[in-house]
Amino acid sequence: TDKYAVLGNPIEHSMSPLLHEFFAEKTSQDLTYGRILVETGTFEKTVRDFFKSGGRGCNVTVPCKLDAYKLADSLSDYAKAAGAVNTLKVMEDGSIYGDNTDGRGLVYDLKRLSCPLAGARILIIGAGGAAKGIMLPIINEDPKEIVIANRTVSKAQALASVYPQKVKGCGFDELEGSFDLIINASSSSLSGDVPPVKDEIIAGAKAVYDLMYSKTAKTAFTEKALSLNVQNVNDGFGMLIGQAILSFELWRGVKPDFDTAIKKFRPC
Ligand code: ATR
Repeated sequence: TDKYAVLGNPIEHSMSPLLHEFFAEKTSQDLTYGRILVETGTFEKTVRDFFKSGGRGCNVTVPCKLDAYKLADSLSDYAKAAGAVNTLKVMEDGSIYGDNTDGRGLVYDLKRLSCPLAGARILIIGAGGAAKGIMLPIINEDPKEIVIANRTVSKAQALASVYPQKVKGCGFDELEGSFDLIINASSSSLSGDVPPVKDEIIAGAKAVYDLMYSKTAKTAFTEKALSLNVQNVNDGFGMLIGQAILSFELWRGVKPDFDTAIKKFRPC
C-alpha cells in the first residue's frame, strides 16, 4: 500500500484525507492518506522522514508551501511561477518533484461554473501568495486584461510586473471600468472582512469567485456580491476539489471525476 499525506500547521481540519481516500476508492487505487502536523522549523526533516518510511508523495499546505518549493529537486513551470509548491512526488530515481496545482484547480472550477476567462477583463484582489499562485494558469486562458488591486499598492505592482503585457497593478481607489470576473485572492474573508472595492465595481461583474471556501458556501465577499445582485457568485470549494484531483493524477496517473466528488462533498 502506497502512503500519502498532507503536511501543514494547523492540519487537523484538512479535508484532503477525505478527498483522496474517496478518489482512491473510486479509481481502485491501493493507498493510504494521512495528516501530518509540521512544527515550526521541522518541515524538511518531517518530509524526508515520511518519504523514508514509504511515503510516495504529499500535499503541502499553509505555512509550508515555500519550504516545499525550496526542498524540491525539480519544479513544474506552475510551481516556479507560483514560487510555492502544494504537491510533492517521489520520482523513480528517488528525486523529489514539486508542482503547484492550485491555479489549475481554480481554472478548472471557473470553466465548470461558466465564469468568463478567454477575452475577459479580470480583477484579482490581493497580491500575496494566493494571488501569485493563480496568475500563470489564468494568463494561459488568454484573458484580455488582468488588474491586480491590493491595499499595499507596491505589492500589486510588483506581481503585475512579472507579466507586463497583460497585467496592471493598482490600489483599490484607482479601479475603474467594468470587469467580467472578480477573483478575491486576498485573505480578507478569513477575518470576515470585505476588501474596499467600490460597490459599483462589484455590482458590474458577470461573475465573482472567492478563493476561500466555507461549509455553508458563504464568505464575507460572496455575501457582499450576492447583496449587489451579481448572478454568478462562488466560493472556492471547487478549487479545493480541483487541486486535489490534479495532485492525485500526478501521483497515480488516473484522474478522478470532478462531478462525482463535488456531489459527494458539496451535495447542496
Ligand atoms: P495568502 O497566502 O493568503 O495570499 P498573504 O501572502 O499574507 O497570504 O497575502 C494576503 C493578501 O490579502 C495580501 O494581498 C493582503 O493585502 P496587503 O498586501 O496590503 O497586506 C490581503 N489582505 C488581507 N486582509 C485584507 C483585508 N482585510 N482587506 C484587503 N486585503 C487584505
